[in-house]
Formats: sequence, structure tokens, C-alpha cells
Amino acid sequence: MSMADYMHRKSVADIVGEAGKHALPPSLGALSITALGIGCIIGAGIFVLTGTAAAQYAGPAIMLSFVLGGIACAFVGLCYAELAALLPVSGSTYSYTYATLGELVAWIIGWDLVLEYAMGAATVSVGWSGYVVSLLGNFGIHVPPAFAAAPETVAATLPDGTIVHGIVNLPAALIVAVLTLMLIMGTRESARVNNIMVAVKLTVVLAFILLGSAYVTTANWHPLVPDNTGAFGHFGWSGILRGSAVVFFAFIGFDAVSTAAQEARNPQRDMPIGILGSLLICTLLYIAVSAVLTGIVPYGQLNVADPIARAVDVIGLTWFSVLIKIGALAGLTTVILVLLYGQSRIFFTIAKDGLLPPIFAEVHPTRHTPWKSQLMIGTIVAIVAALTPIGILGEMVSIGTLFAFCLVCGAVLYLRKSHADVARPFRTPGVPFVPILGILFCLLLMVGLPLETWLRLVVWLVIGLAVYFLYGHKHAALRNASAPPAAHRELRKDVRMDR
Ligand code: ALA
Repeated sequence: MSMADYMHRKSVADIVGEAGKHALPPSLGALSITALGIGCIIGAGIFVLTGTAAAQYAGPAIMLSFVLGGIACAFVGLCYAELAALLPVSGSTYSYTYATLGELVAWIIGWDLVLEYAMGAATVSVGWSGYVVSLLGNFGIHVPPAFAAAPETVAATLPDGTIVHGIVNLPAALIVAVLTLMLIMGTRESARVNNIMVAVKLTVVLAFILLGSAYVTTANWHPLVPDNTGAFGHFGWSGILRGSAVVFFAFIGFDAVSTAAQEARNPQRDMPIGILGSLLICTLLYIAVSAVLTGIVPYGQLNVADPIARAVDVIGLTWFSVLIKIGALAGLTTVILVLLYGQSRIFFTIAKDGLLPPIFAEVHPTRHTPWKSQLMIGTIVAIVAALTPIGILGEMVSIGTLFAFCLVCGAVLYLRKSHADVARPFRTPGVPFVPILGILFCLLLMVGLPLETWLRLVVWLVIGLAVYFLYGHKHAALRNASAPPAAHRELRKDVRMDR
């Protein structure tokens, strides 16, 4: 495999991992791994979806939703770490699955990962739009609400009570276009920029918790679990479950931590500390943010594009509200960038295997980026972001990722049986219980999502299977007959030889 090929065999996890690598000593300790994780995790989930989920599903009990989400992620994270350390191939769950479970399952997961990466990028860009419109408002620039919201959604309510509906979310499409262009040009976040962004994000979140807690009205927390409206998922205990599935989005990104497994000084000790540590810290931060948020603003008013900034506006600290918005925008921008980058690299790897047309693996002769693929991804993500409400997007990302995580836990169980003797730099503790609990918790959260979201997942997977049988299956077979095997197929052989 040429160096150019290797360079493109990377996923979202790699770019973040690399950024961290350059800034950190070559052998990572538990603290560095934890910091890396926190940087990858915090984004639109906490800045936007917390408000949406509290207002529509869980009320102040959104705090409990975060606890549930954190527990599910802890089990999955431990499984993820074992796979990442066992299969030293750069990349995503797609590569891990290819090496362990074969082409069809790998394709399904690769197709499913589009929900996590491309739809994730669209979700975060809608969040970005909410904050940028709000920030521009602080400077007297008023973007017409109908042009900053998806069709059919309520874009604004005028003082006379008239409701303005959205037409198109232009800022969301714009940020995707700009970042796509940057990625095509080969611009990468440097480790420095990445670290600054992490610091900014954390400062903003901590400052909100510290300053905001002085303005909490505890009456807003009562009742903690509002009565169910009669519909599943709308408040009450089922509302906590649905809230948890929606804010699960906020935890996505910890897979980046697991790819650091190969660089950990002492993987067996440092990986669980890094993964569980970053998850624990993020979970605590999320619980604290949601407590302060629902304590300041009655939860019913939180279904807005910029809930954290709205809370700061309510307490009257305008200067701080501006800072929050700038911090949120910085944090959200890096998350979109990383997700768009990751999507093109996953497609690159899949196309190299022949499961997608070769155009997805074409590299620009001088820029060395998969520019055609990046352009197609950017165009589709921008269109989706412009036209789809954040709630629908976030739920699709959550269900897609939860499904992928079930397969990751399943792969750990399968490999323990099929390749019991292979040396594992990191072993998931408590097998088979931890992977089984991971699967059960992910399924539980998936159950919390509405039927329409399930139907959308099924339709998405059926389309994926159609693409596989009409295109991928044939072309991959042809390719396998003529081309040298890709890295994960070599790996698959290696793993077999170890038996
Ligand atoms: N966890 C990331 C976010 O919340 C994806 O934006």
C-alpha cells in the first residue's frame, strides 16, 4: 500500500487522534487520552439538543437521560477499545468489521456510518446556524428567520403572535460549503487550533455552569419528571428514555479515544481510564449544564436553536451570552469539519474495496484530497442541512450510531470465540457481560426513539442493501480477483493465521 493510500485510510478518529498526537508525547498517558476524548465529544449535543430534548421529551429529568446515555456509552467504549487495539488498522468501525465479520456486514456498517458522519455533520451545522443567527443578532444583523430554518418548522413567532415558517436553512448550508471547500483544498486543523478549540469549548461550558448556577430557580425543577402526556416518549419515564436516545448524540465521538489504544503507554490501564474518564467528565458536565439550563429557563421554553445562549440572555448577562455563542460556534465548527473529513475517508476506504464506485477513491493530483467525493458529500450534506429540522436529523444520527455500536459489541463477542488466542493489547473487562450490556443498553435507547425514526433506519438500510447487491457485491468480487487486498483484508488473513 502506497503512502498516499495510507494517508487516506483515515477516519474522523484519525484526524482527531493525529491532532492530539502531534500535540502530545508519542506515548499517551491516561490524562492525555481523557483530554482527547473530551475534545471530540462536546458539540451540538450539549449546545442544542439538550434544550430540544428537555422541552419536548424529558423536562428537567433530562439530567437523568444523560446518566442513562453515559452508562450505555461506557459499555460500548470498553468494547470499542478492544477492537481498536486488536486491529491496528487506521479507521473506522467499517475496517474493524471488515476484518472480523466480512464484506456484507462491513458494508452494512459502512452504510450505517453515513448516518453518524454525514447526517451528524448536517445536524451540527443546523446547530451552528442557530448560534450564528443569534450572534449576528447581537451585532444588529438580523437574518430573516424563514431563511435560517428548515421548511415547515417554526422559524419565529412575531410580537403579534404570527408564526413564521422556515423556507431554507441557508447558514447551515453555507458552513458546510465553506468547510467542504477547506477540506478539498487540503486545509487541516492543526493540533494547535484543535487544542485551542477544546480549551474554548470547555471554558464556555464550565463558565456557564459556574455563572449560571447562581441564577437557578429551583422551582423550575419541580416536578423533576413531568407527567406523561399519554403518548410514549412525551415526559414521564418513557420521556427520560426518549430524551436519552436524543441526547445520545452528545456522546458521539468517544470512538476517537479508542483509536489511541495503539499509542497508549499502558493500554490495559490507560484505555479504560481514558474512555471512562472522558465519558464520566462529559456526563458530569452534561448533567450540570442541563441542571443549570432547566433551572434558569422553564423547560417548556427551551425548544430553541440556541438554548444555552437563551438561558444566559434570561439572566441578563449579554456580554457572556456573546462569549457563549462565539465559544459554541468554535466548538461546533471543528465537529462539522471532523465529521465531513471522516465521511470522505470512510467512502475512500469502501471504494478501494470496490464496494463504491472508484470516483470516491479518486485523489486530487496536487492537493492529495479525495476532492470529488468530498464535493459530493458536501453538496448532499448542505442540501440535507438546509431542508431538514435538527430533531429529525439528530434522531437519525442517534439510531444509526446506536445500531453501529450494537455491531461493535457483537464483534467483540464474536472475536473472543473465533480468535480466542490472538494477543489483545487491551481486553474488555467482564466479557461477555460488558458487550451484552452494551448491546442491551443501545437497544433500550433505540426503543426510546419514535417509530418514524425506526422506519427511516429500515428504509436507509434497505437502500444500502440494494446498492450492495446491485453494485458493490459484483465490483468487489471483480476487484478482489484483480487487485492486491486492502489493509483490512490482509489483516483478516493475519488474524486467521494467528489461530
Ligand atoms: N458529540 C458531538 C456533538 O455533540 C457529535 O456535537
